[in-house]
Order: sequence, then structure tokens, then C-alpha cells
Amino acid sequence: MEVHNVELTISAVQPSQYPEGDLPEIAFVGRSNVGKSSLTNTLINRKAFARTSSQPGKTQTLNFYKVEEQVYFVDVPGYGYAKVSKKEREKWGQMIEKYLSERPQLKGVVSLVDARHAPSEEDIAMYNWLTYFNIPVLVVATKADKISRGKWNKAESVIKNSLDFEPEISDFEMFSSETKFGKTDVWDWIEARMAD
Ligand code: GTP
Ligand code: MG
Repeated sequence: MEVHNVELTISAVQPSQYPEGDLPEIAFVGRSNVGKSSLTNTLINRKAFARTSSQPGKTQTLNFYKVEEQVYFVDVPGYGYAKVSKKEREKWGQMIEKYLSERPQLKGVVSLVDARHAPSEEDIAMYNWLTYFNIPVLVVATKADKISRGKWNKAESVIKNSLDFEPEISDFEMFSSETKFGKTDVWDWIEARMAD
């Protein structure tokens, strides 16, 4: 999709604040600092629309970005940020679970993992949870620019093996917000979900 028009519709913490209407929604999940906001910015051709930071845990609300009046991108706060209190983590978990399991407009989830490492326990838990609820998942291995091209295949198999990857319900893509590698394929997946 050629994107010209994006607006941050709402930063929501509870369902009553989710946008009205029936536009399809695509959510972006992953560990804090993995690159969710950067991926979102790449897809919408902006440098810093979705807030990116070197300060992990910055995105704390569900941010709904309306793209070309056709789809919402939902930037989900990152999990696994150690400095967040247990109570805050529980609140986060409830908010995310509620959104992901009860939102009819949600057509798919882009689940980001770091291309350089095996998925964390939380990455694996998130993947299992999404596939359990039959939510189509695109696993995006990001920061691919940080490993040499010769190691991409190995990185892909490490990630797929750790996740117990289920090709019937999920897809995989290497990505870099530095080089924009993978941008078109991620968009293709999103557009296919929007049409579902
Ligand atoms: P939270 O909002 O805290 O959950 O983080 P996030 O997942 O939105 O991460 P964000 O997009 O803010 O990126 C975190 C840091 O990683 C920033 O310094 C980005 O510039 C950097 N980064 C993100 N994607 C890439 C990438 O593909 N390649 C490289 N080299 N750096 C990246
Ligand atoms: Mg973010």
C-alpha cells in the first residue's frame, strides 16, 4: 500500500476507548525495544510517527494509527521490560489479553523477535498464545541488518525451531528498519489479512 495519510486516532488503555467502526486492525507485539514502532514507521513511510526510543518500555498504551482510512495499526506496549513493577506487568497482561482475544476487528498480529537471538520465553509464550486463539501471526525477525546475510537462514531456523513454528497459521519474514528489507512482504501479508 502506498501510504500518504496516517493519524494517531487514540492511545487506549481500556476497551471503551478503542476506535469505533469496523476497519480491520493489525497489531504489532514483541519485547520492549525489539523494534515495533520502527517497523510501523517503515510501513507508513515516516521517520518518527510512532514513537521510537532507546528507552525501553516507553510505549505504555495501545496506540491505534489509522492508515489511509483503510486499516488500524495497533502498536502494543512491549513485554519483558524488567524495570516495570509486577503490578504494572499484570495490568499490562490483562489489557493485552483482552484486546487480542476479544477484538473482532483484529485480523492478524505481527509478532516481532530479534533476528540475532533465539526467541525469549515470553516470545514463545506470546506465539503459543496467539496460535492457540487461531489468530494469524506473521513472525518478523527484525534488526536483520545486524547479522550478515550468510547467517539469515540459520537465524530463521533457530527462531522457527524455538517457536515450534506452525506454517498452517503463521508466516515468517526477515526485516530491517535500517535497510527496509522485508517491507513489501510485510505489507503483502497485512493486505491479505485485511481482505480476510
Ligand atoms: P517499545 O515501544 O519500548 O516497546 O520499543 P519498540 O519495540 O517500539 O522499539 P523501537 O522501534 O522504539 O526500537 C528500539 C531501538 O531499536 C531504537 O533505537 C531503534 O532505532 C532500534 N531499531 C529498531 N529496528 C531496528 C532495525 O531493524 N535495525 C537496527 N539496526 N536498529 C533497529
Ligand atoms: Mg514502541
